[in-house]
Amino acid sequence: MREKAIVVENLKKRFGNKVVHDGVSFTVYDGEIFVIMGPSGTGKSVLLKQIARLIEPDEGKILVYGMDVLNLKDEELEKFRETLTYVFQSGALFDSYPVWYNVAFYLIEKKGVKEKIARERASYYLSLLGLSGTEDLYPSELSGGMRKRVAVARALCMNPKCILFDEPTSGLDPVMTAIFDRLIIRLRNEFNKTCVVVSHDVNSAFRIADRIGILFKGKMVEIGTPEEIRNSRNPVVKQFINGEPEGPITEVLEQENG
Ligand SMILES: Nc1ncnc2c1ncn2[C@@H]1O[C@H](COP(=O)(O)OP(=O)(O)O)[C@@H](O)[C@H]1O
Ligand SMILES: [Mg+2]
Repeated sequence: MREKAIVVENLKKRFGNKVVHDGVSFTVYDGEIFVIMGPSGTGKSVLLKQIARLIEPDEGKILVYGMDVLNLKDEELEKFRETLTYVFQSGALFDSYPVWYNVAFYLIEKKGVKEKIARERASYYLSLLGLSGTEDLYPSELSGGMRKRVAVARALCMNPKCILFDEPTSGLDPVMTAIFDRLIIRLRNEFNKTCVVVSHDVNSAFRIADRIGILFKGKMVEIGTPEEIRNSRNPVVKQFINGEPEGPITEVLEQENG
């Protein structure tokens, strides 16, 4: 039996009277690439943020490698932070710090690692991401794809078991998207990371996923291998992977507005 990396049970979340999650449940196994897909505004980012403790759910249970995320004891907090990291959709870099310091931030500020050693570690992770030589540049001097890779290097620098990626390839061209796909597969194959990836890109999801979960109207409506998802008879899943909006377009747009 494979170890469970993340268990989400009956998660519920609303903002005001808007129900975002209405009983979301799924399990991600250690070393798995689990891709979450669903229409925009359906709560994918909120789901990742709840797993990462950035947003508190109203109800439900989240376990990360056995740690009860919603009831962490003080002494478990640091272990949790080192087990799971979240890569923001935007990258969320500090513009006033050079690239290497962005990557090494946690090591220096939270772990008290000496700057020289932290910089070496940062350089190593930057090199893995094809960013050697960018150490002393500032985020504003990088392209969008490079900034996203810096954000991944920063996550790797913390050496977590599990990384949550929120739309890592949104806004990137197809070549950069393919590079990111390979990177995520490499993180799993060579570094044994568990990867949860929110993606809007059906082709990319089919390339990288061990399993895919489709989030729709507050529930994980289908979970399966790419093969199972491709052959799903669920009309919602079929519409989604074929890129057909559900219902009249005005309704679809209203759904996104929240
Ligand atoms: N902090 C917040 N306060 C109020 N509403 C929010 C907040 N964050 C997200 N929402 C709403 O929750 C819904 C899901 O958002 P999100 O998870 O960002 O969707 P997506 O699937 O596109 O990532 C949207 O309707 C959004 O407007
Ligand atoms: Mg989102």
